[in-house]
Amino acid sequence: MQFDFTYYNPTIIHFGKSSLTQLDNELTQYGETVMLVYGRNAIKSNGLYDDIMSILAAAGKKVIELSGVMPNPTYQKMMEGAQLVREHDVSLILAVGGGSVIDCAKGISVSAYCEGQDPFQKYWVEYQDVDNKVVPVASILTMVGTGSEMNGGSVITHEETKYKGGRVFPASVYPKFSILNPEYTFTVSQYQMLSGVFDTLSHLMEQYFSDQGVNTSDYLIEGLLKSSIDNLRVALKNPTNYEARSNLMWNATLALNTLTGLSKTQDWQVHMIEHQLGAYTDCAHGMGLAAISLPYYRLIYKFGIEKFVRFATQIWGISTEGKTQDQIALEGIDALEAFIKECGIVTSLKALGATREMLPKIAASTIILGKGYRKITPEEIQNILEDCF
Ligand code: NZQ
Ligand code: ZN
Repeated sequence: MQFDFTYYNPTIIHFGKSSLTQLDNELTQYGETVMLVYGRNAIKSNGLYDDIMSILAAAGKKVIELSGVMPNPTYQKMMEGAQLVREHDVSLILAVGGGSVIDCAKGISVSAYCEGQDPFQKYWVEYQDVDNKVVPVASILTMVGTGSEMNGGSVITHEETKYKGGRVFPASVYPKFSILNPEYTFTVSQYQMLSGVFDTLSHLMEQYFSDQGVNTSDYLIEGLLKSSIDNLRVALKNPTNYEARSNLMWNATLALNTLTGLSKTQDWQVHMIEHQLGAYTDCAHGMGLAAISLPYYRLIYKFGIEKFVRFATQIWGISTEGKTQDQIALEGIDALEAFIKECGIVTSLKALGATREMLPKIAASTIILGKGYRKITPEEIQNILEDCF
């Protein structure tokens, strides 16, 4: 059944090998000063930085740079960018990188002209509406997984309070345009590729495992799950297989550009636990999700048994003959685990940098949403963390 919804996504996508040629035309719509936001080494070592700088120079733009945006971008880095925007009257923030760089750019956009209150407190703790001037953001994606290139999400870590806060901003903060060239992802390490693809899978599962019925969004999600699983297997064997990389890229965008969440209550509890795990360990987001997903789904599957049975049969081809609903559902989760192991995705919190002392703090600081099949308790979160320690 479809619940009522309004659907609007303002981001223009330029996809493919020649997509960077669209940058010049897009730039004509913005003023003189562009702030280029990027990470540490990746875009300089693969030549993308030089290509972008030439286009910006040819377009007559003055370029301000914010480099060194780290994975799990920090409040401090965001505030450094916000100050640069004010000082130089920046008219476009161009993020070049993965989710961390794009999220940081969105954070800078809403924070630069936020007056009278600390922007982190206002937007990531109190989730207030955006009522100040925002600076347009655009992106050139180099790492696949988060979907930040076509959504309003921005996840910022406050280093001092150890709180990794995520929120979804309105359409005015979505990237105005995003350039998606799958070839840019060829240089992403296997570790980061796995983390990114599991992030895509997790976004799809967080939306899938909610509500009792099956609607069009569930069918879309099943297709994207299957495509991501098949194409990850190909990309692991051959990281420069364009077809596989392009499918993984577009799957990630579609998985979190709000389309597949329409008419779904959506769970997002695995993400809430990972955010606090990330705040304490700085682990790669997708790896943390993989670790938490298995014990979490084994805890809640009984409350959404029909969907878990469907997951087992539709995604993993589990046979149903002579089996109870419970057996089928659990075999589906086992199949997910086998796939995680086959690919080499890390699922031990210890290997992701956690210590036993951190677990109660992570559990106590996790936001409990209660939107999925079952509202869990802080004690259960601690058990989940211990299970995958
Ligand atoms: O720092 P550099 O040198 O750029 O290296 C990066 C970084 O170390 C590297 N990388 C990126 N492109 C590359 C490359 N290396 C080689 N070649 C390339 N072409 O990859 C590393 C990881 O990058 P990062 O941006 O951190 O990864 P990801 O895209 O997974 O982003 C993770 C962040 O996004 C948040 C996560 O919580 C985390 O903070 N999320 C954002 C969401 C959203 N906006 O909607 C939703 C997600 O659920 C997620 O929470
Ligand atoms: Zn995610």
